[in-house]
Formats: sequence, C-alpha cells, structure tokens
Amino acid sequence: MSKPRVFITRLIPDRGLNMIRQACLVDLWPENLPPSHTDLLKRVKGVDGILCLLTDTIHSEVMEAAGTQLKVISNHAIGYDNIDISAATQRGIQVGNTPNVLTETTADFTFALLLAVARRVVDGQQVVRTGGWKTWDPLFMLGVDVHHATLGIFGFGRIGRAVARRASGFDMNVLFFDPTPDQSAKTAPLNAKAVNMDTLLAESDFISIHSPLNEQTHYLFNQSLFAKMKPGAILINTARGGIVDPEALYQALKEHRIAFAALDVTEPEPLPQDSPLLSLNNILITPHIASASHATREKMSVMAAENLLAGVNGKGLLYCVNPQVYMK
Ligand code: GLV
Repeated sequence: MSKPRVFITRLIPDRGLNMIRQACLVDLWPENLPPSHTDLLKRVKGVDGILCLLTDTIHSEVMEAAGTQLKVISNHAIGYDNIDISAATQRGIQVGNTPNVLTETTADFTFALLLAVARRVVDGQQVVRTGGWKTWDPLFMLGVDVHHATLGIFGFGRIGRAVARRASGFDMNVLFFDPTPDQSAKTAPLNAKAVNMDTLLAESDFISIHSPLNEQTHYLFNQSLFAKMKPGAILINTARGGIVDPEALYQALKEHRIAFAALDVTEPEPLPQDSPLLSLNNILITPHIASASHATREKMSVMAAENLLAGVNGKGLLYCVNPQVYMK
C-alpha cells in the first residue's frame, strides 16, 4: 500500500518531522515565510493530511482544493483560530492541536513579561547600554511591586491556572474570570477567586489574557473595557492579538489610562514597523514566543506528528478539537 501524502507548511523540529517522514510521502514547504494562499491551494491538492502552523489560514477553500481524501489537519499550536473548524467538521476532517505540552512554558513567559514590565528590566538594559546609568539614585527607574499586587486572569484554562500558581509564589492576590462558563466551574487552584468581569477590571493591578480567540473574545478588550480598568493597570497578552482592539489599546496607553502593556501577540502579526503602538514608550512587544523553548517546541512537533499520523491512518486523534466529527 502506498504511503499517505502530507503537506507540512514549514520546517518543524526534527523529532516530529522524522516521525512523519518515516510513515508518509512528505511535501515540506521549504521557505522561512509561510506559503501564500495561492501556494497553499496548489500544495494541498491530493494530500491525505496537512500539518500547519498558526500562520496558515485554513478555510474551506483550502479543504476544497485538497480534495475529498483529506482526513486530517494537524495544527502545530494549541490555538486553532486559523482553521475553520465547522468547515472541517462538515467535511469529516479531524482537526488536531497541541495542548498541555506548552502550558508551563507559556506561563513562565507570561511571568517573564509581567516581571520585566513591572520592574523595568528592558528599560534598565537600554539605559545601561546607552550610557544613561550615572549613579545609584533613590528616584531612578522606579517600577511597581509584583508581590502582594492583584493579578486578574482572563481565561482560566490550563495556562491561566499555571499563571495563578506562579502568582501565588509571589504572594499575589489572584482573581479570575473565565468567558467559557463550564471552565469557571473547574476547581480554582490555590487562592484564586472567581469574580465577574467588571470586578476583574476594576481591581486588578495586572490583567493577563489566557483565553482562546473566537467570536466572543474578538476585540473584547476595547475602549469601554480599558475605561473600566484600574488606572495605572498593566495588561499582558500571551494568548491571541485579536482579543485586544489595537486602536483602543493605543489610545488607552497614549492617554495613560493604563500604565503599560506587554504583548507577545498582536493584531496583525507581525506588527508593521509603522504601527502606532511602536511609537509608544509604555509597551513591550515580543514576537509570539511564549511557547518557544527548545523542549516545548520539540514536544509540540511530536504531538502534531502523532495527530497527523493517526488522522491519515483513519484513527481518532489524541488531541482532536472537533470530536463532533466522530459522530458523523
Ligand atoms: C501559540 O500561540 C499556540 O497557540 O500554540
């Protein structure tokens, strides 16, 4: 029997890639940048499986172009807002993602941003490198304390809870609001307290976003939400850029309604060099690297490979985001 054919939209870590190469005929997109929509339409023709990244938009046109033999779309990410899930489900295509393996790494990075911004780590390095460090000064480079501050976590799934665990080590007061009702029912770790959205906004010194991007959360952090945030609060987003309205964030930061934002994700990505956000001093932006540790990216590649291989072999995925497909 001939091997299944798969398209992989970018180079992934060796461990996952080798697993796929052993079992499939692989077409690997060779460039550093994602395939264009036109390239995607061409390359998926006739494949049994697609392994894609969050930078690939996989809508019904791509599934259509692939053909009816397409069995699985395996996303090398936990988030899957880049894929039209209902179009996949309608066609009986399983969609896989890579949860769990990146939880702690992403929570670590969230804390790295929180600490860096509160204690001006990046500013400090800039001052040292540009000759601005003249002496020790009681009024020099003052930041805000993290310990005993209130952290509001928006989205209390695995990553939100891992951030809460870290916060308790800093003696923070942790509040959370989960936009997905059945999620809030999950047992809160440590001393995290469930509150409504208005309380979260009004009482948090730091707000950290950990929800998926979907219709409910798209541009949820808009002008009216920023107006409800505690003056001087700090916003951290390591989830998806589209949850925050960039224009409203710009205004809130420019007018110092909120003190600072630390973003690992933006709308769009990458952020254009002429984005108004880059003209502000009270923002720290990193290039979507919260899960980017060697170990975690390798585990993600293995999980994405396992999902892909299960799918092309007609088996159920270990991590399937559209289990409704099994009812069809
Ligand atoms: C990264 O943002 C992911 O969804 O894995």
